[in-house]
Amino acid sequence: MKKVFVTGCCGYIGSHTCVELLEAGYQIVGLDNFSNSKREVLNKIKQITNKDIIFYEGNMLDKSLLDKIFEENEIVMVIDFAAYKSVGDSVKKPIEYYMNNVSSVLTLLQTMKEHNVKSLIFSSSATVYGNPETVPITEQTKTGGTTNPYGTSKLYVEEILKDLYHSDNSWNICIFRYFNPVGAHQSGLIGEEPNGIPANLMPFIAKVANKELECLNVFGDDYNTKDGTGVRDYIHIVDLAKAHVCGVKKLVKEQSGLFIYNLGTGSGYSVLEMIKAFERVNGVKVPYKVVERRPGDIDECYADCSLAEKELNWKATMNIEDMCKDAYHFIKNNSITNK
Ligand code: WQD
Repeated sequence: MKKVFVTGCCGYIGSHTCVELLEAGYQIVGLDNFSNSKREVLNKIKQITNKDIIFYEGNMLDKSLLDKIFEENEIVMVIDFAAYKSVGDSVKKPIEYYMNNVSSVLTLLQTMKEHNVKSLIFSSSATVYGNPETVPITEQTKTGGTTNPYGTSKLYVEEILKDLYHSDNSWNICIFRYFNPVGAHQSGLIGEEPNGIPANLMPFIAKVANKELECLNVFGDDYNTKDGTGVRDYIHIVDLAKAHVCGVKKLVKEQSGLFIYNLGTGSGYSVLEMIKAFERVNGVKVPYKVVERRPGDIDECYADCSLAEKELNWKATMNIEDMCKDAYHFIKNNSITNK
């Protein structure tokens, strides 16, 4: 049976996408090196879907492993999630970030070409827009001016994919620019499991609410936004995962092309609005204090997603309350304090 090859299949976005693909009837070959994920996620995916993934443990830079995967499976499409994604970390470790996020994609593309597999969904990020001049952001908004190696690595891969398509337009490529993925699968079995202290807002709020962390630091309240705190387009991870099923269908239909879509909700929420929504939905308190800005942060960023709605027949359906409820359900289900 024809299979979809999912790299980073045990990660936050990868695992939720595998659930939606399996439930849509696709067969999956998965690859993960567990650098930012856990093997037990495979069992959780099986628990949710009652289906197995053909799984390989290893690294995207290992060309012999990639060749083995393509030789042993009839792969028709690749979804590439495997990447490091911490903005702060990337500033401290640029070589690791470019090696892992850029060189690994080149190894993947070379292998795909040799095995004549030319359909690819690539996970990019709204960070490729840098600090946008205007919002909402459309796919025509100028990219560049990225403020960290993580965002720059995503920008570089986007340029590589554009060059590849222009060199040979039999390639069939979909670039997804994620805004801020948050929340968890309704089962509470899979979600965002950042090892240690979370860098991102939602998992930090959830850990404070669950008394695993004492207090949230709000990074600045003097931004040019509705209440002075940073505004972002938060999208439920399950809505984001479902967009990938639509992306697979789009590439199967088109057979060749280069497509770029923003994946968000089209609404921006501030840090203070997120805190209030989380407290209201879950009946908890989230103590916080305002501290100085975090270097590299931007004021406001939210998407215009009308192109994905029109061309993929996809639209986010879950709201900020759903995101807060599911994020808290997951952290309670999986927290050490409950064990
Ligand atoms: C959101 C808002 C912070 C933490 C990054 C990447 C993006 C994606 C998501 C990978 C900002 C504020 C945060 C905290 C805070 N990553 N904040 N206290 O920076 O918008 O996006 O993560 O896919 O590519 O760029 O997300 O959740 O870190 O921050 O006040 O402890 O929350 O200042 O305004 P960000 P974030």
